Amino acid sequence: MSPENAASPLQYGRAGSNAGQPLTRRDGLLKVTGRATYAADNHPDGVLYAVAAGASIARGRVTSLDVAAAKAHPGVVEVLTPANRPPLAHDPDEKMPPFGFRVDVLQDDTVRYVNQPIAMVIAETLEAATEGAALLDPHYEVESAAVDLESGERFAPAAVGVGAAARTAHGDVEAGLAEAVRVTEVDYETPPQYHNAMEPHAVVAEWDGDRVTLDMPNQALALSAAAYGAYFGIPAENVLIRSPFLGGGFGSKAILNGPQILTILAARMLGRPVKLALPRKQMFGPVGHRGRTWQKLRIGTDGEGRMTALHHHALAETSTFDDFIEPSANIALPLYAAPAILAEHEGLRLNVGTPGPMRAPGAASGSAALEAAIDEAAEACGMDPLAFRLANYAETEPGTGRPFSSKTLRECYAEGAKRFGWSGRPLEPRRMRDENGFLVGWGMGTAVFHCPHFPAEARATLRADGTALVETAGADMGQGAWTALAQIAAEALGLDPSQVEFHSGLSNLPDGGVAGGSGHTASAGLALHKAGGDAIASLAELATADAASPLFGAGNIGVVAREGRLYRRDDETRSDSYADILKRAGRAQIVGTAKAARDPAVASAYAMFSHGAVFAEVKVDPDLGQVRATRLVGAFAAGRIINPRLVQSQYYGGMIWGVSFALHEEAVTDRRTGRIMNADLAEYHVPVNADVPSVEAILIPEEDAHVNPLGVKGVGEIGITGTVGAVANAVWHATGVRVRRFPVRIEDLV
Ligand code: MOS
Repeated sequence: MSPENAASPLQYGRAGSNAGQPLTRRDGLLKVTGRATYAADNHPDGVLYAVAAGASIARGRVTSLDVAAAKAHPGVVEVLTPANRPPLAHDPDEKMPPFGFRVDVLQDDTVRYVNQPIAMVIAETLEAATEGAALLDPHYEVESAAVDLESGERFAPAAVGVGAAARTAHGDVEAGLAEAVRVTEVDYETPPQYHNAMEPHAVVAEWDGDRVTLDMPNQALALSAAAYGAYFGIPAENVLIRSPFLGGGFGSKAILNGPQILTILAARMLGRPVKLALPRKQMFGPVGHRGRTWQKLRIGTDGEGRMTALHHHALAETSTFDDFIEPSANIALPLYAAPAILAEHEGLRLNVGTPGPMRAPGAASGSAALEAAIDEAAEACGMDPLAFRLANYAETEPGTGRPFSSKTLRECYAEGAKRFGWSGRPLEPRRMRDENGFLVGWGMGTAVFHCPHFPAEARATLRADGTALVETAGADMGQGAWTALAQIAAEALGLDPSQVEFHSGLSNLPDGGVAGGSGHTASAGLALHKAGGDAIASLAELATADAASPLFGAGNIGVVAREGRLYRRDDETRSDSYADILKRAGRAQIVGTAKAARDPAVASAYAMFSHGAVFAEVKVDPDLGQVRATRLVGAFAAGRIINPRLVQSQYYGGMIWGVSFALHEEAVTDRRTGRIMNADLAEYHVPVNADVPSVEAILIPEEDAHVNPLGVKGVGEIGITGTVGAVANAVWHATGVRVRRFPVRIEDLV
């Protein structure tokens, strides 16, 4: 028999909405009172401190290191170099699937990018390790490095992003362009960007025989435990990763890196716990970034402003020894109803650390260029940018004709435009001024992000006191996973969220999948939902077979789980409490488990995306060229909303990162040395409160019967995707200047 609680309307489905309770964060109090401990807050007895020495050249060889001087320094315990680095069980030059990256762990004396680890000093104190590293006095044989478009080597990548197609063609783009009335052809450039989570990459590694405990921020606990197991030649279950909180992830903490692996090696070598917390400067190189892109778009339109062809070509930077390519051009595939679409990528090898997934990989950089190019195409057609997008609205997935699992983008456009006041926008640029004489501009962009689903597992334990413990190895990097996932579990168990204890952040819990790709809530949530259903089903079996239960004999009729009780489906006056059922059965608890993954048949039948529309206002000082984003309105549809408060917060965050991309963030490389000149948070600009005065996020109701049984889509990364273009388009609307290189800077406008 199957209980009916699956997808029950208890916590969700309030009138006129598909949103659940706007609970505050379960971890909020711990965080604001400083009781939430992050990896580097751990101080095991006898802990040593590791400091990596990073290369100061971009290409060449280390010819000497004064290891003796470093070792002679008081407090220094050991210096790891290529000469004494202990072996690893997995070749670090070989990628480790599925998020496989080559890692730099002192393989040899070759240097391929600035800040590549060339040694690691381990000492009794952080000060001694830092001073020891400064005594290493590296000498180099310097070779000329590839640091820009001119010096890098181009290549055709086999894949982009994490296993995405490097080239996708639908129809004949050249024929479509040939028959177009107008062709808009534009080049956009996006800069290298670094994740810059508040919390740096850190690890405290402690070995006990062939078992190791790792306190580290981590977005992919089970995959990482397996990968560390492979590197250190031990079973995955001998690796315990503890990652209760992350001070931001942004993609960089799903990927293994050299400094962390070296620290774990040092701990084993020395037989003592070792701690590493990367200094901010060393976050620029060995732990991933968003690679620079050069994108070319060609948009053919007919006399009515309908696209005849869309060609998106992206050249993206990667390292000289690995091949992660920012999948920018693939953003051209899901959104606009062009009869011919070509999305293609090229790689460029530079002497930089390998890029990786960062805050809407590909979609952020790709939509920055696409949405700005769309604005240019609309202008060329003399059309309002929203009208142009509506004229090219894709009812089914362009190129494949597959239906969308759900798409509520029209409503996002309409509601966002209404709240923003878009209908009052003059078509021409430079038509609006504020009371201070600043130029005012309005722009918009479409937001879109795919809905990946990671296999995940969970366990739900109903206890004799009527409460529950639910467990899954998820990661809360600030998005509110603890809270939203507990809400899903509570619904499945027919309990109030306050009765549900939620355990997470440990790799020895059931695999909660990856906190990435905006897919964590759906992935871990579905596993929790099923585990809860499994526990309820077992409980119902006990009750319906128990002659003392009011539910006796209801096996074929079914029961409903609600508020800690099971009710006969046909007669809700007959019910039994969880506590009574367990008590009569003499059981202390009942455990439900589940594994959940996306049905491949559903995955191939539907195109699955969250959608949104972002409207931006900027003000530009006509004399100084200073740009301020003054107002953002985003309307998003992402299926069922588990917790509207948290989701709104995710949208705010995404939109602010969009402003960051459009106006602030850029790693500036010194072309002579390959060094990043602004490798700190003082000069690598991210928005502060004063940069973003007003942000509004509207939750558009949407039901999705296909994306997963919960109907949940992703909300984490989509906010950035529409915003970048919206801000750039607003800058044009304010000034009449098209800036085709991000971020938009003062010098572009004066
Ligand atoms: Mo994200 S870049 O999918 O962690």
